Formats: sequence, structure tokens, C-alpha cells
Amino acid sequence: MSGSLVILYATVSGNAEALAELAAARLQAVLAIEVHNVADFPVGRLGDFGTALIVASTWGEGAPPPEAVEFCTALHDHATHRLPRLRYAVFALGSSNYTVFCGCGRRLDEDLAACGAQRLLPRVESDLKFKQAFEQWLDRLAAVLLPQGVQA
Ligand SMILES: Cc1cc2nc3c(=O)[nH]c(=O)nc-3n(C[C@H](O)[C@H](O)[C@H](O)COP(=O)(O)O)c2cc1C
Repeated sequence: MSGSLVILYATVSGNAEALAELAAARLQAVLAIEVHNVADFPVGRLGDFGTALIVASTWGEGAPPPEAVEFCTALHDHATHRLPRLRYAVFALGSSNYTVFCGCGRRLDEDLAACGAQRLLPRVESDLKFKQAFEQWLDRLAAVLLPQGVQA
């Protein structure tokens, strides 16, 4: 499974899930992809994949979506999870109306790096109008992930 790709989302009101499905639709023509809510995905499974794309919103005051707390807390335990073979990228959803902008996505990105995973692209922190930034992120991912000459 080391060549396969998982797209994970952390959501409350569905934006991150919709974007995860969009990413899967864009990339699935040439890659084997699984899409999961982090609520149903044990952190230990990350090691089964070669690449993880994460779309995560922030709630409360900089907190993960309630359903994502268990995953985020477990990942924060860097000593337990060593992921040197995992490549990853994080797209963080948030709103600049809040003090801790995109806090959940930022922590996931930092925690994956602390576990030894390799960042494919710099983290994107996106405000409420996220569609264009997400399309650009997908373009950059496609350029990195897809074999030369294959169009997604
Ligand atoms: C009650 C509430 C609390 C929020 N708290 C934050 C926050 O602390 N930081 C932030 O960047 N965005 C915050 N947001 C904005 C959401 O992250 C943003 O609307 C996101 O697109 C929701 O994505 P989702 O539908 O995948 O959950 C909050 C939104 C609501 C409604």
C-alpha cells in the first residue's frame, strides 16, 4: 500500500468533506485513492499509505471539529507515531473572524512533520472563500503527484 493515497477530512458543516471528494474526483483517474473522515480513521493507519492529503476545518476557538479531536490528540503524540515514509499536504479551512485562524490544520501540519513525515507542499490556510485557493492547491498537487504527461 505504500504507493497509495488517502484523503482525510475533519469537518463540522461539510466544507472539508466536499473538498476532499473534489480532490478525489480530480486525482482518482490515475491514483488509487481512499477518502475518510478522520473520525473513522485510526492514526495508526497512516503508516499504510505513501501519501496523505488532509483537509481540516477549525472550530471553537482554534479547536478541531469535535469528531476529529481523538485523531488530532493521538497524532500529537509524536513519540508513538513515526511516519518517515509518509508524504503529506494539509489544506486548512478557517475564518479570519476568529482569533486562532486555521488552528486545527496548522497543528495537524506541524504534528505530521514532528512525526517525521515529508511535507509535499507548504500548508495552505484558507479563509471562507476557499474554492479558488483549493483549485490552485489541487493544481500544485497534481503536478507533484501525477506522472509526467498524465492530465488529471
Ligand atoms: C462556531 C464556529 C466556530 C469557528 N471557529 C473558528 C476558529 O476558531 N478558527 C478559524 O479559523 N475558523 C473558525 N470557524 C470557521 C470554520 O472553520 C469555517 O467556516 C470552515 O469553512 C468550516 O468548514 P467545515 O464545514 O468543513 O467544518 C468557525 C466557524 C463556526 C461556525
